[in-house]
Amino acid sequence: MNYDAIILGAGGAGLMAAATAGQAGARVLVIDHADRPGKKILISGGGRCNFTNTGTEADRFLSDNPHFAKSALSRYTQWDFLVLIERHRIAWHEKTLGQLFCDGSARQVVAMLMAECAAGGVEVRLSTTPGPIEQGDGLFRVAGAAAPNLVIATGGPSIPKMGATGLAYDIAAQFGLPLVTPRPALVPMTLGEGDAAFRDIAGVSCPAVARAGGVAFEEAALFTHRGLSGPSILQVSSYWSPGQPVSLNLLPGAAGLLRDARRRMPRAQLKSALAEHLPRRLADALAARIALATEMGNASDADLDRVAGVLTDLTFHPTGTEGYAKAEVTAGGIDTAALSSRTMEARSVPGLYAIGEAVDVTGWLGGYNFQWAWSSGVAAGQAI
Ligand code: FDA
Repeated sequence: MNYDAIILGAGGAGLMAAATAGQAGARVLVIDHADRPGKKILISGGGRCNFTNTGTEADRFLSDNPHFAKSALSRYTQWDFLVLIERHRIAWHEKTLGQLFCDGSARQVVAMLMAECAAGGVEVRLSTTPGPIEQGDGLFRVAGAAAPNLVIATGGPSIPKMGATGLAYDIAAQFGLPLVTPRPALVPMTLGEGDAAFRDIAGVSCPAVARAGGVAFEEAALFTHRGLSGPSILQVSSYWSPGQPVSLNLLPGAAGLLRDARRRMPRAQLKSALAEHLPRRLADALAARIALATEMGNASDADLDRVAGVLTDLTFHPTGTEGYAKAEVTAGGIDTAALSSRTMEARSVPGLYAIGEAVDVTGWLGGYNFQWAWSSGVAAGQAI
């Protein structure tokens, strides 16, 4: 059977590309091995899908070429996607930091994308393993279908139990497209025995400024049985390299707050002074690490400066990350140097496109990764 385009992957990027191309008149086939489309959309944002971010700009994405995403993001913006959401009467709200969520369910976003595909006459073939890809006579042949255009939209290997695979990288290798080494991103970090006291306070969360790899993010940090998580940690994890430290500022202005406590509560132990500003279990763990051997009233300025130094620059040396099993996205992927930033088409293989998470463009936490899926999907869909 002949089509104008075969799209591998019925995730956000693939469905968006399919709907765009189909509605422009192309005959489109989407192939996915999963038994339902958009599985990651369904579990995203705690089931409410953080579908975009009002602050979307290219500088909120990691890539070996920080300029690559600009073209697609500016031609199909967060506001364009919001128009689509509203056209489908999906109620939404802004949660924090420009993050837009469905009021109801992420299922509405998948239903919307499937309706858009249906409006373009797109055929979606689920529970289908693509098998080998052949190319000849200007056509790509896969799973008994043939088309002059083939779109790689199979994402990255993060969360294999959701059906994620490295197929995009295998196809890239087959056609000679280079890769930027993939790595887990937006991922919890693990701590070793030296930090066992913090693993023991699993479940405690507090606002923090996390720093690693030259960046800083101010959001919640979460202590877990294995180490560190929460939005601020997930954000810096994308910039972190093994061996680098991660630091947390748990109490901006700590030096002044501690002097104030020394005045107000001279008989108190440090852990009580800390518990005024931090969760009790965290205050206890910090006080144990700092080991201030006196009551607050007897602490010298130098003592308080030492304590403030720990609170504002609590440094960990993570042993690693929780890997693809827990990574919200995969950073790295198909090298953008091999692709046109306008169309997502491979420069050296006419008719071959790569979009979404398969490509070396990775957004911050907060709806940016879906916006990249929509924008890159539309760019390819328009070019087909
Ligand atoms: P995606 O992975 O969505 O789709 C790829 C498709 O290809 C899948 O349908 C898969 O079944 C198929 N496929 C893979 N291998 C195949 C093979 N070998 N054969 C056939 N088919 C194959 N982002 C965001 O912006 N806001 C959010 O709220 C969240 N929340 C979130 C929560 C969780 C738990 C995760 C894991 C991720 C998020 N994300 C997110 C990230 C977001 O889900 C991700 O960036 C996009 O889904 C990427 O879209 P793609 O279409 O590129 O890949």
